Amino acid sequence: MMRQPWTSWASRMTLGGKLLANVLLAMVVMSGGVTAQAQTSNSHLAVSNDGKWLAVANRDNGSVTVVDLASRKAVREVAVGEHPESVLFVEDGASVVVSLHGADEIVFFERESGQVTDRLPVFDEPYGLCTDGASVYATLETPGELLEIDVSTRKIARTVKVGPMLRGIAFSARDDRIYLTEYLTGTVHALDRKTLTAVDTWPGASSENLARQIVVHERRGKAYVPHIRSRVNVNRGEGSVTPYVAVVDTAPVEGTPEGRRRKPLPMDSIVGAFVVANPWEVALSPDMATCVAVFAGTDDMFVMDVLDDDYKELQVRKISRLGHNPRAVRFSPDGSEFYVLNALDFQVAVFETASVRKLATIDVCKAPYSAEMLEGKRLFYTALEPMVGRRWISCSSCHPDGEPDGRTWQNPEGLRNTQSLAGMAWTHPIHWSADRDEVQDFEETIRGPLMQGRGLLAGRLHPGLGKPNSGLSDSLDALAVYSNSHKVPLSPHAKNGLSESAQRGRTLFFSAQTKCAECHSGPFFADSTRERPLKLHDVGTGAADPSEKMGPKYDTPTLLGLYRTGPYLHDGRAKSLEEVLTTLNPDNKHGVTSQLSPSEVADLAEFLRSLPYEDPVAAAKSAGLVPVVK
Ligand code: HEC
Ligand code: HEC
Repeated sequence: MMRQPWTSWASRMTLGGKLLANVLLAMVVMSGGVTAQAQTSNSHLAVSNDGKWLAVANRDNGSVTVVDLASRKAVREVAVGEHPESVLFVEDGASVVVSLHGADEIVFFERESGQVTDRLPVFDEPYGLCTDGASVYATLETPGELLEIDVSTRKIARTVKVGPMLRGIAFSARDDRIYLTEYLTGTVHALDRKTLTAVDTWPGASSENLARQIVVHERRGKAYVPHIRSRVNVNRGEGSVTPYVAVVDTAPVEGTPEGRRRKPLPMDSIVGAFVVANPWEVALSPDMATCVAVFAGTDDMFVMDVLDDDYKELQVRKISRLGHNPRAVRFSPDGSEFYVLNALDFQVAVFETASVRKLATIDVCKAPYSAEMLEGKRLFYTALEPMVGRRWISCSSCHPDGEPDGRTWQNPEGLRNTQSLAGMAWTHPIHWSADRDEVQDFEETIRGPLMQGRGLLAGRLHPGLGKPNSGLSDSLDALAVYSNSHKVPLSPHAKNGLSESAQRGRTLFFSAQTKCAECHSGPFFADSTRERPLKLHDVGTGAADPSEKMGPKYDTPTLLGLYRTGPYLHDGRAKSLEEVLTTLNPDNKHGVTSQLSPSEVADLAEFLRSLPYEDPVAAAKSAGLVPVVK
């Protein structure tokens, strides 16, 4: 039988006198439940408890690869569905569980045969998975729920609402809790596992962002959360987006004012002035003495010693260069090696823990798209030259996977809410003020103060609405191909068709009375066009921001995907769709809404939340429309 790291440190804890925690742990270990740290927190990688198998979630391929770790070879790639994010082994490695963020399903398959045995439909966007042995726990990003699935029956046992945009998840045997992170705020929640009731919460600073994972250090009573800060008032690359690992005290700490703390460890100053970007995941070795953090922007990692010290917490032992866009890291159960997923190389690198020497590289799958798309995606994710001069930031820091970062940035032209890139191939021109008409115009952003890169184009750049910049640089064209590739997912609010409320809202939306469809027209609910003169509208929203330099006319934004893209309007002033229709439209300049009763406002908002309820691309094609860019 495998050496059980948990047993060894459980016995060490008896010496430390933490009796209760020890008893709990011993119970878990004896019951044959959790036997390795690896299955207790979310990751794109999973290692089976016997150390023989590695499972890899291939987000871009819609598949999971099973790797035989002894021969270091991929033995099987199992097609599962759109956007697999988190994987786990259950039933002693006999089954693999995967969350499909795009397909809204949690799928079980047999490791040995690759046979899919169960597909559980869930409300929307499952992301993180972890297990205590008997149950699998999952985060649903929208509307922010925790789900419990019974492993033996493969049935959903319980669902609880926790907070918006949940991603990270970890089980702690020490206090029998589930820890969760909110993606766009970094807030950490703790729930009692037995009752699934909230027992604690650790809010982040207001700039905290993109917290997609959490790992628990049982012995020290700590949790580690990789995340960034989006510092929306900083227009220059330096310090605009900064990398952190937050250390959360999961138990009260004696002698501190609140009895507990949350400490953000800045990863851009933990070793001198060596800057890293976009921390994606962290992993703890089974003996919990080593913590590895991978940085998806600068393509490197920190191998850190976990200090027994509440002040410094982590100390970098080694910095290593990785491949393209490292997104995941996991240890073997005996701790002798660890695995890193270089997502845009479609490879896993194997490292020896003691020496941090690379032992092997394993191909896990093939790029599912063209070389041009791959180049564009690498450029979008990198914080290195030629895109970025000073390493802090990448396009993906604000547009992760094409989704918005939920922030309103103080740009030189005024306050600007980050837009979703979904469906953009059909909704050019670009930006709230339509000051750009092709993604190639972002060469200006690349060379500008925000990114300070060498750039992708030799020579002079044409202004945003001037002569085209497309066709001048293969790399810049590749960046455009990737940026324009994001599809619009269907709204979870209309899975069973439009609700009665949404149908009433639809009638209001298309009525001559409200006038909504005069501007929000066609399958993408926008009248945007690249033909001159551009169609811009003053809908009475341009006066509130004293820093505004381009308003008060704006390009009509698409209304597809609103259910997950708040806050709203160019300046992010509307926290809800209802606000757009009521308090922020006092003079009926933005459609005619003042006559609507509260229940009619609710119906209209419900319709907006249900968009899209049919595939907009199919609808556009059948109406004979073509995308602005292919
Ligand atoms: C600091 C955060 C940040 C970074 C970094 C960033 N963006 Fe943006 N992006 C924004 C904001 C804010 C907007 C809205 C700006 C506006 O409308 O003027 C935006 C808008 C866009 C849009 C317009 C979408 C639409 O539907 O009109 C595109 C395309 C885009 N960004 C691509 C990129 C690319 C490519 C990069 C990297 C070269 C990049 N962005 C880097 C924050 C960022
Ligand atoms: C005259 C053209 C026009 C009409 C009519 C119109 N809109 Fe808009 N809509 C716009 C423009 C332009 C914006 C962007 C304004 C801004 O950001 O300040 C916008 C923004 C929005 C937004 C915010 C989108 C986001 O991503 O933040 C929503 C929601 C919206 N409109 C819904 C409606 C509804 C519902 C109606 C009917 C009651 C309506 N609009 C009528 C042009 C129009």
